[in-house]
Amino acid sequence: MASSLRNYLLFAVCLMLLSPSSIAQQSFRPKALVIPVTKDAATRQYLTQIKQRTPQKPINLVVDLGGQFLWVDCDQDYVSSTYKSVRCGSAMCSLAKSDGCGECFAAPKPGCNKNYCGLTPDNTVIGMATSGELATDVVSVNSTNGSNPGREVTIPHFAFTCGATFLLKGLANGVVGMAGLGRTRIALPSQFASAFSFHRKFAVCLSSSKGVVVFGDGPYKLLPDVQFTSQSLTQTPLLTNPVSTASAYSLGDPSYEYFIGASSILIDEKPVSLNSTLLSIDNEGKGGTKISTVDPYTVLESSIFKAVTQAFIKEAAAKNIKRVAGVAPFDVCFSRENVPSTRLGAGVPTISLVLQNKNVVWRIFGANSMVQVSDDVLCLGFVDGGSKPTTSIVIGGHQLEDNLLQFDLASSRLGFSSLLYGSRTTCANFNFTSIA
Ligand SMILES: *[C@@H]1O[C@H](CO)[C@@H](O)[C@H](O)[C@H]1NC(C)=O
Ligand SMILES: *[C@@H]1O[C@H](CO)[C@@H](O)[C@H](O)[C@H]1NC(C)=O
Ligand SMILES: *[C@@H]1O[C@H](CO)[C@@H](O)[C@H](O)[C@H]1NC(C)=O
Ligand SMILES: *[C@@H]1O[C@H](CO)[C@@H](O)[C@H](O)[C@H]1NC(C)=O
Repeated sequence: MASSLRNYLLFAVCLMLLSPSSIAQQSFRPKALVIPVTKDAATRQYLTQIKQRTPQKPINLVVDLGGQFLWVDCDQDYVSSTYKSVRCGSAMCSLAKSDGCGECFAAPKPGCNKNYCGLTPDNTVIGMATSGELATDVVSVNSTNGSNPGREVTIPHFAFTCGATFLLKGLANGVVGMAGLGRTRIALPSQFASAFSFHRKFAVCLSSSKGVVVFGDGPYKLLPDVQFTSQSLTQTPLLTNPVSTASAYSLGDPSYEYFIGASSILIDEKPVSLNSTLLSIDNEGKGGTKISTVDPYTVLESSIFKAVTQAFIKEAAAKNIKRVAGVAPFDVCFSRENVPSTRLGAGVPTISLVLQNKNVVWRIFGANSMVQVSDDVLCLGFVDGGSKPTTSIVIGGHQLEDNLLQFDLASSRLGFSSLLYGSRTTCANFNFTSIA
């Protein structure tokens, strides 16, 4: 009886191995993966959805470009037969650069196990972190050929950290955690790349409607027929900040966020006089320029904010653009009446971030600099970060929308497209029709 059952099972396994569909399944290795990114109107957070657990469940997450890993609330509604706590001292635990071992004395459940590998899930929107258990579970996302979503692929042991319900404070409704895309080995880009052996590169294209993140190398295609490769993007080095910028961290931890080297700022090609010390990262990790998807607008250190806005107001006045009262959170607003509409948005002075040399410039045109707050008022979408912020320039979501950014983790470079309107497309133009 036992042996005939075993033979039957062996036979069934052989059949499975031989069936063409299972062969195709096993040999299908995606070159890239795609996740959709929507913008939550109430919080201005960028949200995505992936599938996790067994049975599979779609979960909504806030996209955190500089976040260290995926974290989700395990206190509420975490039901899965494939959840596995990661042991302290395991290879996965050291890959994750754990903060230490944890113990949970209550009955074991997701987020509470003996001798677990401890990490610190961080709500970077409100700047609050807690300790949590590193775990793995099944995650599914769609593959892509760069143009459309393809078939769904599954990673059986995807690492993430268990947060808690209180850590969801300040996040959009319906969200259960944050999807960290930072420069760690367990953030989404590196885990996806190692699961399918593709390049440690990913592209972010945010939109005020539905944008996209593609993990893996390009070409990335947007409708009607615009193609982006590393070669077609302007390249700048990604810089390392030696000191963590997380809400809680251990001494010696570096920052896992994406910093670039802005060397000066121009308004309509005229240099703004700034304290250049603020533009570099000092040995305490202060200063410099980073890119963030959790700040809805660009945040500038006070003296930079004053210098940039004064220069902008002056150049706008020269164009006959009339200043009006500020509308919170913005100090600098204008009447729309003398502002022409251009292909690149409102016809206002161009703000340029000069990067590693004078030929590498990130230009911010009207579509990214201005926020329309009412029918007749446009505001400069930059906010004052006070006199002692950790980072001097934080390029926020509104300034990133409709710009394609490619992060190359292996060569530590950022490629950027500039405003896609110039190429007659937008980040809402990824073709989400599945070709699975
Ligand atoms: C993959 O794409 C299809 C069609 O757009 C969608 O229904 C499905 O939920 C996606 N799968 C995942 C894992 O996001
Ligand atoms: C992706 O597949 C679609 C449908 O087969 C095809 O039209 C498109 O050209 C492909 N894109 C790339 C970049 O290969
Ligand atoms: C420039 O900024 C640095 C760092 O905050 C500060 O120590 C220095 O005093 C500033 N210099 C001037 C001229 O304001
Ligand atoms: C989107 O892709 C699908 C599948 O390849 C294709 O049939 C459709 O025409 C594309 N949409 C547009 C607007 O080109």
